Amino acid sequence: MKVLILGSGGREHAFAWKLSQSPKVTKLYIAPGNAGTETVGTNVNISATDFESIKTLVLEKSIDMVVVGPEDPLVKGIHDYFLADLQLKKIPVIGPQKSGAQLEGSKEFSKKFMEKHNIPTAKYKSFSKENITDGYRFLESLKPPYVLKADGLAAGKGVLILNDLNEAKNELSMMIENQKFGTASSTVVVEEFLTGIELSVFVLTDGKSYKILPSAKDYKRIGEGDTGLNTGGMGAVSPVPFATDEFIKKVEDRIVVPTINGLIKDGIDYKGFIFIGLMNDGGNPFVIEYNVRMGDPETEVVIPRIKSDLMNLFEGVANQNLHEKSFEVDARTATTVMLVSGGYPEDYEKGKKITHLDLVKDSIVFHAGTTKKDNEIITNGGRVMAITSLGENIKQAVSQSFLNAECIKYDKKYYRKDIGIDLLSFTKN
Ligand code: AMP
Ligand code: GLY
Repeated sequence: MKVLILGSGGREHAFAWKLSQSPKVTKLYIAPGNAGTETVGTNVNISATDFESIKTLVLEKSIDMVVVGPEDPLVKGIHDYFLADLQLKKIPVIGPQKSGAQLEGSKEFSKKFMEKHNIPTAKYKSFSKENITDGYRFLESLKPPYVLKADGLAAGKGVLILNDLNEAKNELSMMIENQKFGTASSTVVVEEFLTGIELSVFVLTDGKSYKILPSAKDYKRIGEGDTGLNTGGMGAVSPVPFATDEFIKKVEDRIVVPTINGLIKDGIDYKGFIFIGLMNDGGNPFVIEYNVRMGDPETEVVIPRIKSDLMNLFEGVANQNLHEKSFEVDARTATTVMLVSGGYPEDYEKGKKITHLDLVKDSIVFHAGTTKKDNEIITNGGRVMAITSLGENIKQAVSQSFLNAECIKYDKKYYRKDIGIDLLSFTKN
């Protein structure tokens, strides 16, 4: 099989790394990819949302399957584009069509979906220009903190959590009337604040059956102790020690099964990943959000723990016989530590030469924002690379990631030195 992966981050490098190990994969392309994906496949300099150029590439290289990494092409309808094209319609796309991608593309849609299918989530109401005064009244009826969410995609920045009622009203007005997040905030979901500990569970589905992939926890803030600005993710751990078998069973019964059945009932043919952001409130799971793709950097800890052939699983998704495919998970713990450019998530410089990669031992380096110039690897983004290690426990795995994170050199390198530390109290060793 010739496979094309769309995207350019650590998630896509992890997919490429894993698929390149499959005897079923004869040729791997990544568009646009990074300096890491180039070591396991062939990069093609095409944007993941340039559907016309993707079509040309797929036909020219006789590609047999397309795996979509980020949400953007899915929300913009890449899967629908393939299905509507006579030459492309038989080529499977791993990732939902537009109808399913709304689970991430519209917070209002996903809240309505959960309400309709009795999936536990925070109580909510949505508001737009027409009923903004009802929005102020609704905020008055809630207790702080107040949670405001832009309905559409806002590059991960569309959620505001505020303690002050007047500030919340003001932000609601800024979002709706002043288009704080552009058209993404023409509609705003206002919801109850959930308490508990966050984690994510990932599902791969062919639209009928599903596999529950390993759980993971990511570290979103730039600063140690979860302080400072939000980022794309500074590190991740899998499995999550407080996600016991009993808890995961509740997630399966109360969330995964009703989600898959809800999609079927609503006539949404869903083939791909579902990323379920959860709050564990006293042992009970509540959905914070759905994403229609894998997480980044969660993929960098989930994929290395999957022992089974990923291509075989993707074939199961494409042919709707996922239930027949074997699925085995490594019992060890995986941790990843993200190296970023100094200044990220605000302004940062690119083009810094990265050295000492050859000194990395017993970790996997998944590139994110890197590229090659004059045969040297240089930084090309805020998140530069994720250092993944496997160990018998969090401590062992993360020490290895830190050791290698220290050894890689580039100007203004930064990483959080507390990844996984908060989880140690949940572990026995
Ligand atoms: P989202 O983009 O929906 O993942 O929201 C970003 C972050 O805001 C989540 O990871 C949570 O930490 C937090 N968050 C979102 N919704 C809620 C909620 N209803 N209660 C508490 N925290 C929330
Ligand atoms: N790490 C969070 C995300 O991928 O959305």
